[in-house]
Amino acid sequence: MIYLDHAATSWPKPPGVIDAMRDFLEHAGGNPGRSGHLLSIAAGRIVYETRESLAEFFGLSDPLRVILTPNVTYALNIVLNGYIRPGDHVVTTSIEHNAVMRPLRAREAEGVRLTIVACAPDGTLDPEDVARAIQPDTRLVVVNHGSNVMGSILPVAEIGAFAHQAGVPLLVDAAQTAGVLPIDMQAMHIDLLGFTGHKGLQGPPGTGGLLIGERIDTAEIPPLVRGGTGSSSELEYQPDMLPDCYESGTPNGVGFAGLGAGLAFVRERGLDAIRAHEVALTERLITGLDAIPGVTVYGPQDIRQRTATVSFTVADRHVSQVGWALDEDYGILCRVGLHCAPAAHRTIGTFPEGTVRMAAGVFTTLDEIDRAIAAVAESARS
Ligand code: ALA
Repeated sequence: MIYLDHAATSWPKPPGVIDAMRDFLEHAGGNPGRSGHLLSIAAGRIVYETRESLAEFFGLSDPLRVILTPNVTYALNIVLNGYIRPGDHVVTTSIEHNAVMRPLRAREAEGVRLTIVACAPDGTLDPEDVARAIQPDTRLVVVNHGSNVMGSILPVAEIGAFAHQAGVPLLVDAAQTAGVLPIDMQAMHIDLLGFTGHKGLQGPPGTGGLLIGERIDTAEIPPLVRGGTGSSSELEYQPDMLPDCYESGTPNGVGFAGLGAGLAFVRERGLDAIRAHEVALTERLITGLDAIPGVTVYGPQDIRQRTATVSFTVADRHVSQVGWALDEDYGILCRVGLHCAPAAHRTIGTFPEGTVRMAAGVFTTLDEIDRAIAAVAESARS
């Protein structure tokens, strides 16, 4: 089996992640922040350590502004439902995932106005186009850092500089880049950062979060969900304190233990090494696919402008037919179709059929990439 679906979730997980989760369940299985006993305190400490590591990793000074959530969709929804008011203007791009598009489209019905800045057909974006789209009543700019369809990397730091200059907060969806590309909220002018734990950060599914920069007044973002927080239990109203205000309900302690270990793995290996490995794999994959008659590869030509996510189509073949053959005949696991990002496919001209998507990860080898290329070549000929 060759696993090339890291854009959906990374697999396998580093051994330390599984150890940390087992250890949590065996030795720290209490409910974090709820009780004063040994197991609750042990669980609370582990969750807090993960929170602290995430703050440090993404350049946020206050760990209490790291909101732990079940996934990045939840994190983005906190902002897209809470921060934007009816009548506000929002700027986004034409390659956003439905985790951004669907909440924004729903808000349109409440009078929110959207400007969707068009990306080029290779998925790249001119940051000046974003600057030009900002209006006096723009409340938020929201962009992804890396496309989950064709892997194009958006110029977040430049967009952040323009947004900052205009006094508009920037929300970044880092689902595809956290743990792969450096992200420094301060240096890149990111006010709000949504990330997932189960892709590049090597943690388990069920983990993600929102980092809220110091410039954002959290009083302007009501929580998405209200309930028990383990704090201010005398109140029948949601407490304001961070991060509790946004974290009602029992947290996924075992998941955040795993995420902490995943992050430790990433930091130990180093982002430079991880990126260099993924660039080598991606270059090899694109070169190999490009050479196959009938295959069209999407996304930027310049390898520096892309992640390890590669989308392609094969002439005269339905993408599901290609995906089926790769799985059944060669044991190659990838994802075909629209990847929950119809806007991105409209941008690159592959809507409504979509593409075949191969996404390598930290444990993928060059030999696996060569075997994947050979499999596509053979199935394209047959
Ligand atoms: N958004 C994830 C993907 O692109 C699940 O596959």
